[in-house]
Amino acid sequence: MDLGLSREQQEFQERARELAERVVAPGAAGRDLTSEFPEKVLRELAAAGILGVMVDQRYGGAGRDCVSYVLALEEISRACAATGVVVSVNNSLVCFPIEHFGGEEARQRFLPALCDGTHVGGFCLTEPNAGTDASAQQTTARREGDDYILDGTKIFVTNGLACGAIVVFAMTDRSKGNKGISAFAVDKCSPGVRAGQAEHKMGINASGTSEMLLENARVPASHRLGNEGDGFKVAMTTLDGGRIGIAAQALGIARAAVELSAAHLRENPGKGRSQALQHRVAECATELEAARLLTLRAALTKDLSMQDRSVRYSREAAQAKLFAAETAVRAATAAVQLLGPAGTARSALAERLFRDAKITEIYEGTSEVQKMVVAASLGFR
Ligand code: CAA
Repeated sequence: MDLGLSREQQEFQERARELAERVVAPGAAGRDLTSEFPEKVLRELAAAGILGVMVDQRYGGAGRDCVSYVLALEEISRACAATGVVVSVNNSLVCFPIEHFGGEEARQRFLPALCDGTHVGGFCLTEPNAGTDASAQQTTARREGDDYILDGTKIFVTNGLACGAIVVFAMTDRSKGNKGISAFAVDKCSPGVRAGQAEHKMGINASGTSEMLLENARVPASHRLGNEGDGFKVAMTTLDGGRIGIAAQALGIARAAVELSAAHLRENPGKGRSQALQHRVAECATELEAARLLTLRAALTKDLSMQDRSVRYSREAAQAKLFAAETAVRAATAAVQLLGPAGTARSALAERLFRDAKITEIYEGTSEVQKMVVAASLGFR
């Protein structure tokens, strides 16, 4: 594995770091308290190509690789994990399936606005009875002439309150099980599509997460992603890339936690002399480096798959997300512990990192799902 970053990759990382420090970090604590969506921040990130990192320049994207994407996402997430997931969902879960499974009309219609920050995207797969078992979709799509009519309720849609475009999964033929699911790119402003209740969560408060309600929503057949019945595979392929994004988000959280813990020990020599405490930070710092290597390996494999369609990256993505998410939780837990009572204060960075880290073990497939994917790659069924 060649880890030497190209000049372009390093420049993109440096640009993301500069924006993360100057634009993303300053309001992060406030947005966590108020749940304000990072709208203005996204406009600046869009101008730097961070909302459509891998999208072809023909559609307004930055036309960069997945390695550049994870480098940027770690920087953004280190400053604000909620902004990290907003950016990750827009890139991985919305732009990717529209570009790779959508027809030309859908690409032209949706991608430029998703890349330039006019719209942010949402991914509508999870339902009250379809979480880990994503094939148990209750939402339906009924063909009517040149359109489909969509009905159903989606939950925990990141960006749901703010999005202008969504990717929706729905049953077109229940008798076919997961081969009866189809995917659609949907204009959030179309009649019959609206955000429902905001989801109140323990962390990642600024992500505008909500229900998404589809009531007699008419979607042109030209906005279907892939063939009818391909929806489950579209979802799984998309989530392979999404998991690399969440691994990068987890790296950002873990790095912020390790930096905070180390600075605290250095600034408090009484504590800092404790070898037990030093070792706890050393372990977290080592896991962070290992998680970054796994994430870069997954990104490199995804980049290879763009040149050679026979290359798969499901296992690499699952291993990166599994390890990076658990690293983020351990590093954030250590930061709270090392800071003592001050680390538990509502205004403390350690406390925010602790709350923000947990969901990385859950969304885009729980740690248990990642282990299922890895086990399947080892031949277990
Ligand atoms: N790429 C392409 N195809 C894939 C695939 C992949 N990664 N994984 C599976 N498939 C295909 C299989 O090849 C199989 O096809 P055939 O029938 O033609 O052989 C088909 O899909 C079914 O595969 P499985 O039998 O393995 O599927 P399963 O029903 O057992 O599901 C699972 C496996 C891994 C548990 C899957 O359901 C899963 O990943 N669940 C988690 C869902 C998830 O991650 N949800 C997150 C929602 S998004 C989110 O979190 C919101 C947000 O905004 C952040």
